[in-house]
Amino acid sequence: MKTTSDFLKMKQTGDKITMITAYDYPAAKIAEQSGIDMILVGDSLGMVVLGYDSTVPVTLEDMIHHTKAVKRGAADTFIVVDMPFMTYHLSKAETLKAAARLLQETGAHAVKVEGAKEVIPMIQSLTDAGVPVMAHLGLTPQSAGVLGGYRVQARTAQKGIQLLSDAQECQNAGAFALVLECIPQQLTEQVSDKLFIPTIGIGAGKQADGQVLVYHDAVGYGDHRLAKFVKQYTNVYPAIGDALDQYIREVKSGTFPAEEHSFNMKEEERIALYG
Ligand code: KIV
Ligand code: NA
Repeated sequence: MKTTSDFLKMKQTGDKITMITAYDYPAAKIAEQSGIDMILVGDSLGMVVLGYDSTVPVTLEDMIHHTKAVKRGAADTFIVVDMPFMTYHLSKAETLKAAARLLQETGAHAVKVEGAKEVIPMIQSLTDAGVPVMAHLGLTPQSAGVLGGYRVQARTAQKGIQLLSDAQECQNAGAFALVLECIPQQLTEQVSDKLFIPTIGIGAGKQADGQVLVYHDAVGYGDHRLAKFVKQYTNVYPAIGDALDQYIREVKSGTFPAEEHSFNMKEEERIALYG
């Protein structure tokens, strides 16, 4: 299993870090078998698995429940779990308690938090307490309400300079890596150059030190709208729809189950059964 020091080394040697989300056992298992460098149990869970229209309703219990399943599927992969909305803002004590539950109850290795400013002291105190922290800047979906929706962030030099300074604060507070979501690639290049910790991009161009995608986006599991920055590598949704159509037709027509799916009784037992 790769660790935080391997991710630092990968940045130094230019070996791109691959990350994908997972929320359940089979996705985690196939991600591990594919050789992914790390798994994110993202709170995107709320949107792609639980059917909410944002990540705000996702609870600590939701994250724990799903991360346990992911851990069972990928026991040998570095797992990062998102701290849900408002679980790392109220106080350092609340933040530490929530992070302790996330790591101790699930076996995940690190937490991810969104934003800088008042989150910086939380990153510091988590790191001091022994919790590896992945930071997340740019489009931070838990703040979509404040940002005015899901749109590209920091397109101006002024905002870019602010984001770079936030990124440096995350690094100084002890973050081991930084997700950059939905920002111009020129800014990703600058941030990745200036930081010694790896950047993991999503909608941030190829200049990041690694990439992350949402599992359901990458494999087409769902009929949700895809952001411009997503690449759908396969599309399983229509295949599943076709399979279910056929299943329904075969049950209605009596062609499923067939002989090969059925069990038999010995003839004398059948006779005795009917009396
Ligand atoms: O929740 C999530 O899936 C994320 C990634 C998009 C970085 O935070
Ligand atoms: Na997230």
